[in-house]
Formats: sequence, C-alpha cells, structure tokens
Amino acid sequence: MCGIIGLCFNKTEELGKLLYKGLQRLEYRGYDSAGIAVLNSGRLFVVKGKGMLRDLEERLKFTEYTGSTGIGHTRWATHGAPSDINAHPHVDCKGFFAVVHNGIIENFDELKKWLINRGHIFASETDSEVIVHLIEEYYRELGDVYEAFKRAIRSLKGAFAILMITPLEENKVFFAKKDSPLIIGLREDYKVLASDIPAILDHTCSVIVLRDYWVGYVTPSRVHIEDLASGKPIDYSTYIRLIEWSIEEASKGGYPHFMIKEIYEQPLALINTITGLRSSREFPLVVKMLVDARRVYVTGAGTSYHAAEFYAIASNTLTGLLTIPFIASEYEAYVNAVRDGDILIAISQSGETMDVLKAVRMFKERGARVVAVSNVVESAIPRESHISLYTRAGPEIGVAATKTFLAQTLLLSWLLVELAEYTGAISSSEHRELVKSLEESPRLVEVSLERSEKTAYELSEVYAEKKSMYYLSRHIGLPIAKEGALKIKEIAYIHAEAYPAGESKHGPIALVESAFPVVFIVPKLVWLEHSTKGNIEEMKARGAKTLGIVCDESPVVSLLDHVITVPCPHWLLTPISHTPPLQLLAYYTAIRKGLDPDRPRNLAKTVTVE
Ligand code: M6R
Repeated sequence: MCGIIGLCFNKTEELGKLLYKGLQRLEYRGYDSAGIAVLNSGRLFVVKGKGMLRDLEERLKFTEYTGSTGIGHTRWATHGAPSDINAHPHVDCKGFFAVVHNGIIENFDELKKWLINRGHIFASETDSEVIVHLIEEYYRELGDVYEAFKRAIRSLKGAFAILMITPLEENKVFFAKKDSPLIIGLREDYKVLASDIPAILDHTCSVIVLRDYWVGYVTPSRVHIEDLASGKPIDYSTYIRLIEWSIEEASKGGYPHFMIKEIYEQPLALINTITGLRSSREFPLVVKMLVDARRVYVTGAGTSYHAAEFYAIASNTLTGLLTIPFIASEYEAYVNAVRDGDILIAISQSGETMDVLKAVRMFKERGARVVAVSNVVESAIPRESHISLYTRAGPEIGVAATKTFLAQTLLLSWLLVELAEYTGAISSSEHRELVKSLEESPRLVEVSLERSEKTAYELSEVYAEKKSMYYLSRHIGLPIAKEGALKIKEIAYIHAEAYPAGESKHGPIALVESAFPVVFIVPKLVWLEHSTKGNIEEMKARGAKTLGIVCDESPVVSLLDHVITVPCPHWLLTPISHTPPLQLLAYYTAIRKGLDPDRPRNLAKTVTVE
C-alpha cells in the first residue's frame, strides 16, 4: 500500500535529504504521489504532489528542506484519486498538525460528517484526512497533544499506521498502529519510524516491530510506547530485534532494476532458505502437525496463491494427503467447513497481506491451527499464526514477486518430502534422492537462468507487440503457468491467461489465430509430456506460435516453434526449473515496451486492504 517514514532528529541540515532517501526505499509500496512535512524553528512546512518521487523532487525539492523533525509518505491511492490535494501529509484547518497514514479508515464517512458539522473544512477526498481533523478537534477540547492524538486514534475503525508531527511539540513524532506495518529504528542520537525495514537500514539495524493497538511517540533520545486500550506503558526492551539484512541486499547493487537483481539472486535466496530450514526448530513440529491434521487448507494471494496451489497438487500427488487450496480473499467460501483439528497454511511473502490475514483470523475462530509461511520475520501473519516457517530469501523490493516464489515452493516441497517419508508414502531411498535434489536447487535455478536468458530476450521483442497470450500446462505445471501469466500481465501489461492445457479446447481456443502466442510449461511427468503433445498440435493447427519450457530430452521439443530446455531432476522441482524463464520473459518484454518493471501501474508491493 503506502509507505510512511518519520524522523525525530537533531541535524537540521539533513532532514529533507534523509526523508527523501527513506521514501525512495519505500517507493515500491506505492508511487502515485508523495510528500513530506517538516518542523523547523516552530513552523510546519508541508510539500506534496502527484507523480513519481524523482519527478516530484525536481518540482518540489524535498531534499532542500531542513528541520529537526519530519514525516513523509509515498502513496498508493485507495480513497480519492492520485492528485496533489489527495497526496499526504494532510493538515488540519489551522495548519497545526500534519499526519501521514497507511491503511484504510473504514468509518471515515461518518467521522467526516461529524467533523464537518463541527466546522472543519476538508481539502482532500481521502479517508486519511479525518485523522488530522479529529486530532485538531480533540486538542481544542483537551489542550494536550498526546491525549488528543490518542482519543483520535480510539475513534478510528479499520487499518492504520499513522505518524503525526506538530510545532506544539517540536521534538516528537507521534505514532499509532493497527493492521498496517510500522517499525521504529533505534539509534542513541535519533529515532526513525517506517513502514518497512529497507527504509530503516540506512540508519540502524536495531528495530522494534510495533504491535497492533500500540501508540506513543519518539523524541531523538527516547521512545514511549503504550497499549491504547489499557493505557499501560509497554516495556519494549524485549521487543528489540537486530535485522540481519544489509543495506546492499536492500539496494539494486549494479542492476538496472530490483526485479532483475532479484531474479539473479535466486540461487542465493534458495541457499538461505535451505540453511534456515536446517536450523528451524519449528519445521519438524509443522511436519507433525500436518500428519495429525483432520484436514489441511492452504491459502495466499497472487504469487503466494500460486505457491499454495503448487503445494496442494504436490501434496495430493506425493503424500496422498488431500489439501484444499483457496485464494485468500475467497475464505468465506471455505470457512464454514472448518473444524477443530484442521490446519491452514497461510503463505505471504510480506506477511502483511490483509486478505490472507483475514483468512487466518476467520480460520482461527473456527478452531483451525495456522502455519504461516512468510519472508518477513515478525510480520502480522506470522504473529497471528500458531507457528511460522520463514523463507529467508532476503528483502524483495520489486513489485513482482520472483525469488520469494522459488523460496516458498522450495520450503513447501521440503515439507512435503518430510511428510511423505513420515507417513510412508515414499521410501527412505526416495526420500534421500529427493532431499539431494532439493539441496541442489540453487544450482538448478542457475542453469535454468543461463539457458533461458538468450531466448527470453529475443522472444520479448515479439511478445512486446502482442495484446494477448495463453500459458498452458497440466498438473504441477499449472500454478507455474499461472505465475508466468501473472508476471507478464502485471509488468508488461499483456493480457495473459493460464489454463489447464486440456481445458483450452473447451472455449479458450476460439481466440487463437495466426501468430497468437501460446507458452507451454511441460514438467517431467511421462503421462503429462505425452498428453501435452495433442494440445500443442491443436494450437499449431490454428496458427498459434508456440514456446515450450520443457525438460531435457522432452518428446515435445520437435513440435514447438521455440524451446527453452531446462534440467528436471524430479517433477517436484518444477517451480525451480520452469519459473525463471517465465520471469525473464516478462522482465525483458516490459523493458522492450519501455515500462518500469519495478513500478507497474495500479499496483503496490504489499496490499494491506481487503
Ligand atoms: O506479500 P504477499 O505474498 O502476501 O503478496 C501477495 C500478492 O499481493 C503478490 O504476490 C502480488 O500478486 C505480486 N505483485 C505478484 O508478483
């Protein structure tokens, strides 16, 4: 969604520059508008506008602002179109308070009517603006900034991470959090607040990940946190964590875009996933939980849903234990069947996706136990789950998920291999073989990238001209086809649909005409390679131009117009071998079209609204 940053500082010269840098690090969370507010010598300055951050910097010169305390915001519009007026920070009628907000205020309509009746004048169409007018209203009544801030927060329904500054208390940044992420970075001489770790790493590795309903303020030397409901102060010393990511990991490191950097980081990401699994105390406990489960559900959104679907197909096939996959936002269609003894595996790279969080909460209410699979330690979904497994793929900044998908599917495959051995579905020698293949997955992705780079680059020229594409596969290849279609759709803006190859003749084939691009994902399963032959023929007979991502020595090679062959040690490793070519194809097609793959239109990296 949006990214917010706050600095409670002592070096007046640096403030604008550091706020701008922080916003650059958070830009992947939203980039349709941005703004900052700073306090300097008892005065509040607000500068904001619609557009990309670097264009705004040219126009508004954020970096030239100086002061002691400041907040900033980079926006992904929910209420109110992207515009100068709707950009954050928002200020009250008199210009005493400035607020940035990430989330959605569900009761903003009723609050806004109430405030308008009391004489407040609104400048924007956003839900967020009610927050600053509420603070103004309660300050008039209470005469105390912090008490007014807390009362305003108590009136809000919905999701929020909020920062507020005011010249009435020049050396403080006030904060509150519920359902949207917020972190405090700790240094002796100053404090920084941000939506996410990359914006903190320029300053410190020592952080507090704030919990829901925590409210408080920071000064350059002090942090005060209390529980909103009880008013009791929180002893935050037990919540301080050291972040292991380096700033290099969170920056582009010589690559033109985060997406391509993260694609090529995949071997390293998988090594870290494996290392993490080996030392995980939770991992064997999860295997045991799955063995004992009455029924297993698995969920996620977007790419993480594709990982969920992969898990379900692989579980049904390898272990014989039925697993039910569902798209997180569709939890209502499944939750009524949930009982004690059921397990939900909730997959989310960010650990903050609201649709997934909602599914977790609803399943827990019905008695399910929840296993989180996430890349971000102590994010909301792991915190609300009974047990968590971490992919440890490092920060993923590109809006399109890449390395985290491979890390998720590797972790899930490993889980299944252990489960299959535990239940006797595979022998110990099969188990040994499979573990060996999983251990070799970093090399597998390396080879897959090497082999696909040239063809993906060349074909991107052809695909850049296309309006529509199909991605077809069967069985374990289907979630990979869906992932390929999602990638090219979201960053290259090509309408791409993934279908079970067998289903394509029941309607979708009507669209196929001369040179229509069809990508086949053909995993290593003998029956599958055989039955896909007919589907390739059907498409070719209608003039389609086919590309196949196939295994070495696949029998379908001679039927295809273009081929990328990859090594295939076992069908379980299909995401590792077959996804990288699809990522490269999408990346290069976006580049050919002159698009920025890190900032696709209308999207945000983390979707913290329903
Ligand atoms: O952080 P999550 O894994 O929960 O995010 C889920 C989706 O929003 C995410 O995968 C999205 O679809 C990506 N843009 C896909 O590349």
